[in-house]
Amino acid sequence: MKVTIVGAGMVGSSIAYASMIKGVAREIALVDINRELAKGQAMDLSHGNAYVRPMRIHGGDYDVSSDSDVVVITAGRPQKGGESRLQLLKDNARIVKEAVAKSLSYSKEPVFIIVTNPVDVLTWVAWKASGLPRNRIVGSGTTLDTARLRQSIADHCQLDPRNVHAYVLGEHGDSEIVNWSHADIAGIPLTDFCRNCRRDCEADLFQKLFEETKNAAYKIIEKKGSTFYGIGLAVSKVLSTIFNNQHSVLTVSSVHPEFEGLKDVPFSVPTILGREGVERILKVGLSSAELKGLSNSAGIIANAIKNLRD
Ligand code: 2OP
Repeated sequence: MKVTIVGAGMVGSSIAYASMIKGVAREIALVDINRELAKGQAMDLSHGNAYVRPMRIHGGDYDVSSDSDVVVITAGRPQKGGESRLQLLKDNARIVKEAVAKSLSYSKEPVFIIVTNPVDVLTWVAWKASGLPRNRIVGSGTTLDTARLRQSIADHCQLDPRNVHAYVLGEHGDSEIVNWSHADIAGIPLTDFCRNCRRDCEADLFQKLFEETKNAAYKIIEKKGSTFYGIGLAVSKVLSTIFNNQHSVLTVSSVHPEFEGLKDVPFSVPTILGREGVERILKVGLSSAELKGLSNSAGIIANAIKNLRD
């Protein structure tokens, strides 16, 4: 149970920190082009070992990653304020390709988790660069957006977010959609829950909650420069699902063989994850507007891939 995290900045180290607290792996390797940073983060984290289930933690260049079961890629240039995730594409595609190739020279067929943005397109880049079966390439996708949406609904309805079942689908970015038609609280469709609640919420409440979710990263970047704790916890959940073969349903991104006439396009839908990565992509019920929105989102990702190839 060894995980390598490529990129030891705030996102990579938050994933390591959350994973350590949750006792997700037995061994964590942090790799960064800035070796001293990777070593420093590993030292700092290892000093918490006395207070968790102890694990081996290394930092440095790719040699510390040997024989990893899972490789998480967070390396890349960060998103600047006001910049869309797709604008980052070219620089980060080069970085992810190199990280995949170098990781594969030290670990045989790991499951890759891609976190670097724009995550959907880079999930495709990693799939192509690795030559691995598509189930072994998992993008963090809309796991964070789904958590943000559940938190917004939970805040509004005064509930535990774990009892809110609502999913953000499509691109981790501006074209994402919410599967409102199948959102529920304790099995009660969200719309029925609202009718029972009698709080007289505004008519455009769902739209507001969606906007809050979709724009959360921009807001946080404006305030503190980058986002890292939320994604750290989301990816540590993906890792625990893989290491414990938990078959949890998470909205990760994976390369769909075919969707609405598009081939090999990565995007997020509820997906069962286990030891080998993607076990099953679930067929969710969608209203016709949601299907249209999801096709549009998949089309935007497919276009970005096409631009990258041209
Ligand atoms: C986030 O959504 C920036 O993708 C990052 O927090």
